Amino acid sequence: MTRYAGDEIVERVLLSEDVIAARVAELGRSIAADHSGHDLRLVTVLRGSVIFLADLCRAIDVPLALDFMAVSSYAGGSGGSVRITKDLDDPIEGASIVLVEDIIDTGLTLNYVLTMLRARNPASLSVCTLLDKDVRRIVDLPIEYRGFAVPDRFLVGYGLDIAGRLRNLPYVATVREDAVA
Ligand code: PRP
Repeated sequence: MTRYAGDEIVERVLLSEDVIAARVAELGRSIAADHSGHDLRLVTVLRGSVIFLADLCRAIDVPLALDFMAVSSYAGGSGGSVRITKDLDDPIEGASIVLVEDIIDTGLTLNYVLTMLRARNPASLSVCTLLDKDVRRIVDLPIEYRGFAVPDRFLVGYGLDIAGRLRNLPYVATVREDAVA
């Protein structure tokens, strides 16, 4: 396996590059089949999701546009306090929105973002997440396109970071317990 700077904290590869690529291709086909002839927009919450988005959008063979937003949880916030730090550039009224996430954990971020986007009257609003840490869910949310259910472990790679690093690993891996202690 190719070594990456910092990957000595990797415990084991959970999802290999090949396994991810195969699933992303399936998700892309599903999204394309459901959105042919629509004004399809992939909306992504920065930052980690951009890796998944870059592969996913190329697996969707219908016309689409991309837009980005950024959010920040209030310091020490619990209960889903989220602040928008970068809004979408384009209006979404009448568009078919697929919100692309790398991982859904408690669901609090997504719940906030979905509520905000729904108020802008898109024609449709669905969710595509590569990873679903469903055992951690606090808010129940509909997820139309789901890559993989994952265990309640600290994960890095393919967009997921530890202290801002290792997003560039091409696989998803668990990290050694002592690295997150
Ligand atoms: C991750 C992920 C979601 C959020 C999910 O982002 O991309 O936005 O956490 O967690 P939740 O379901 O508990 O709300 P993160 O805050 O790690 O930001 P990043 O993508 O910039 O790393």
